[in-house]
Amino acid sequence: MKFVDVQSITDRVLEVIAKTPDARLREISFALVKHLHAFVREVEPTTDEFEKGCAFIVGLGQATSAAKNEVILASDILGASSLINLLQDQAGSKESTKTDSALLGPFWRVSAPEYELGASIARGEEASVSGQTLWVDGQVRNDQGTALAGAVVDVWQASPVGLYENQDERQPDMNLRGRFRTDDQGRFNFRSVRPAGYPVPVDGPCGDLLRGQNRHPFRPAHLHFMVSHPGYEVLVTQVFADDDVHLETDVTFSVAASLVGRFTPAVREQKSGFELSYDFVLRPGELRLPTPPIP
Ligand SMILES: [Fe+2]
Repeated sequence: MKFVDVQSITDRVLEVIAKTPDARLREISFALVKHLHAFVREVEPTTDEFEKGCAFIVGLGQATSAAKNEVILASDILGASSLINLLQDQAGSKESTKTDSALLGPFWRVSAPEYELGASIARGEEASVSGQTLWVDGQVRNDQGTALAGAVVDVWQASPVGLYENQDERQPDMNLRGRFRTDDQGRFNFRSVRPAGYPVPVDGPCGDLLRGQNRHPFRPAHLHFMVSHPGYEVLVTQVFADDDVHLETDVTFSVAASLVGRFTPAVREQKSGFELSYDFVLRPGELRLPTPPIP
């Protein structure tokens, strides 16, 4: 007969899991049990702490709705989502280079309006705020340096007060979102307004955790991009404003050095504002769009 004790219990669980038929599920279950048991051995939770931990996880589910995914948010604020991205980028980099990825985030919509090159994605009152105009341009290339004509550059961003259009009744539908198609030289350009940084939601268990850890909830100002072209992996990334005070303390740990864009002062069309030039490099692969997080 085999009985458990504090030394043997981890191996007993692993023995049982060893019979898992699916190889990947077996591998993941093994790692989960090994690290979970190591965590418990290190922390030695009291019963009260164990109950609080369980309540936290239950709370993640309860705070999740069609409009908000608290489970993903927990992964984001603990750096796990960004680590998964970084590891996926690193795994693929053995074959070819590409622009670094960043999190898709909860605000991408699948059918943003298509615009002519040079058009403005600002449809609301923010478009008339002086000094906040942003002119964006760049080029899409492949990992060999060849320009990609007809690539789709899908951009979405928060307003100058830090809200996406679907969080803010004052903004028109599909405001500050748009899709552009690169020209013969793989180039794109559009007009917008400077985005502001914003806090992640703090009304659920993730907010309690951030307050308990004495952390601010802010993301630095950024534009989201999804760049696609047949025959290439879809690039999902974010480009950050280089003058944001939260650049080094992004609550989701998303800021890779290569993703910091230079927002340089500019005067054009009798308006003052900023310019941002940023190129995207795609690597060969399958064009597969992500599932939209919101309808
Ligand atoms: Fe965002």
